[in-house]
This record gives sequence, C-alpha cells and structure tokens, in this order.
Amino acid sequence: MKIALITGISKGLGEGLAKILLERNYRVTGLGRNDNPNLNGGHYRFVSLDLKKPDKIKTIKPLLQEMANEQPESILLISNAGVHGACGAIGELDEDKVLETFNVNLLSPVLLSNVFTDVFAPLSLHKRILNVSSAAANSPIPGGSTYCQTKAGVEILTRVMFEEQKNKPYPIEVIAIRPGRLDTPMQAELRHLPNLPMGPILRKAYEDGALKDPLLTAREIVEKFVDSPIESGTTYTLE
Ligand SMILES: NC(=O)c1ccc[n+]([C@@H]2O[C@H](COP(=O)([O-])OP(=O)(O)OC[C@H]3O[C@@H](n4cnc5c(N)ncnc54)[C@H](OP(=O)(O)O)[C@@H]3O)[C@@H](O)[C@H]2O)c1
Repeated sequence: MKIALITGISKGLGEGLAKILLERNYRVTGLGRNDNPNLNGGHYRFVSLDLKKPDKIKTIKPLLQEMANEQPESILLISNAGVHGACGAIGELDEDKVLETFNVNLLSPVLLSNVFTDVFAPLSLHKRILNVSSAAANSPIPGGSTYCQTKAGVEILTRVMFEEQKNKPYPIEVIAIRPGRLDTPMQAELRHLPNLPMGPILRKAYEDGALKDPLLTAREIVEKFVDSPIESGTTYTLE
C-alpha cells in the first residue's frame, strides 16, 4: 500500500496531483479547507485543515500515526496549498494578507514536515516530501514580495531538511518543485488584480495560450518525482 497526503486538493495543481495518484492506486488523503467533489472512491479521504491556522497542524499527528501503524510500503507528503500573496508593495501591505501568505505558503510546509518527520523518521519505509515552490523564489516581483519570500523559504527548508536527513539510517527524501505557469484559479485571480505590475505579462501569457494544463503538469510531477529516483535536497524546475 502506498499513501499520499496532499494539501490544497480543492482545485488547481493539487486536484490534478490527487487525481493522478488515485489513478495509480495510492491511498490519498487531501488536507485543506475545502474538499473536491471530483475526488472520490475508497482510496480517497478528506481531512479538514485550514492552513491559515498553523497551530492546528499538529492535530494531524494521530492521523499520521494511524498511517504508520498500517505499515505502508511508502508515504508521500506534497505541500501544494498556496495563496498568491500579491498584496502590494512594501509600505502598502495588507497585514492580514501577509500573515495568511506566510501561514499557508511557508509555515504549513515547515510544520507539516516537522510532524511528518517526527512520526515517520524512525521507520524504514520509503518516505518522500515534495514542496511546491515557484520561480518567484528567485525573482523579485514588485507587489508580490510575500509570495517570493515564502517560496524562497520553502526552498531553503528543503535544503536544510536534506542536510539533516542525509546521514540518517532511513532518510526522508525531500525536494522542491517549481511547476511553471499553470492555468489554475490562482493565475486567474492574479491576472484580474488591478494594480499588479506584472499583470500585463500574466494576461499576455494567458491570451497566448502559454499557461500549462495543471493535470498534465501533475502527471509530469508524478512521473518524474514520485515514480522515479530523485536527487534529495534539489529544487527542480519544470519548463
Ligand atoms: N498557478 C501557477 O502558475 C503556479 C506557478 C508556480 C507555483 N505555483 C504553486 O502551485 C501550488 C498550487 O497552486 P495553484 O495554481 O493550483 O493554486 P489554486 O488553484 O489557487 O489552488 C490552491 C489550493 O490551495 C488551497 N488553499 C489555499 N488557502 C488554504 C488554506 N488556508 N488552507 C488550506 N488550503 C488552502 C486552496 O484551497 P481552498 O481555497 O479551496 O481552501 C486550493 O486547493 C501553490 O503552492 C502555488 O504557489 C503555482
């Protein structure tokens, strides 16, 4: 039995990842605020967790212990949930949006990795974490500083965790993935924001048909980073 936990399955890339893993007979647990009626069947379950509230993350520890007791062949955590966090230039930031962006995009992968490692580190099964990042980790986007900061944080989290795990008897593999620009609700929201300086670039990408289908990207992620050997600690960029 192979188990996957995925955050943010209600739409976008997370929905695609859940569909592809279910197709491959994974037992998938979706974690998030909203479930997804397109995901169902005996191998799927939803656990309600609002990642804006990082103090709630530790409540999933009993669920992880239950999974460990089932002695699966492998366990996979995909920290996918995210918000675009485009809340203005520094000096004009909406503080609630800043907190939400840090909580969902950075604190939730940190705390989920923490509880996941606490439960699974001693076990000899195959363990992997995929952290969904973005090219924004390395690109200064005016008006989107919090998004850039959180994605840079996710990438350094990945590298530090690799260093901590690499000499363990049963290391957890961990990578970050920059998936490229996807045709998801997040992109639609961004291109409709009135004052985002990169708005025209995003609108042009959409009009030119340059956004990628999230289901195809999900399939590519599963083929390259779930079903295949990976270089732990690496940030991978999809074209
Ligand atoms: N789209 C792109 O072009 C692009 C490019 C690079 C990287 N990425 C990254 O790819 C990942 C997926 O993005 P996407 O484009 O698929 O975004 P999306 O369509 O907006 O979906 C985001 C997912 O995150 C969930 N989420 C947001 N806030 C949450 C919260 N407080 N608690 C729990 N879940 C929450 C959403 O669920 P609900 O809103 O239903 O709660 C949804 O399922 C993100 O990490 C994003 O940064 C996207």
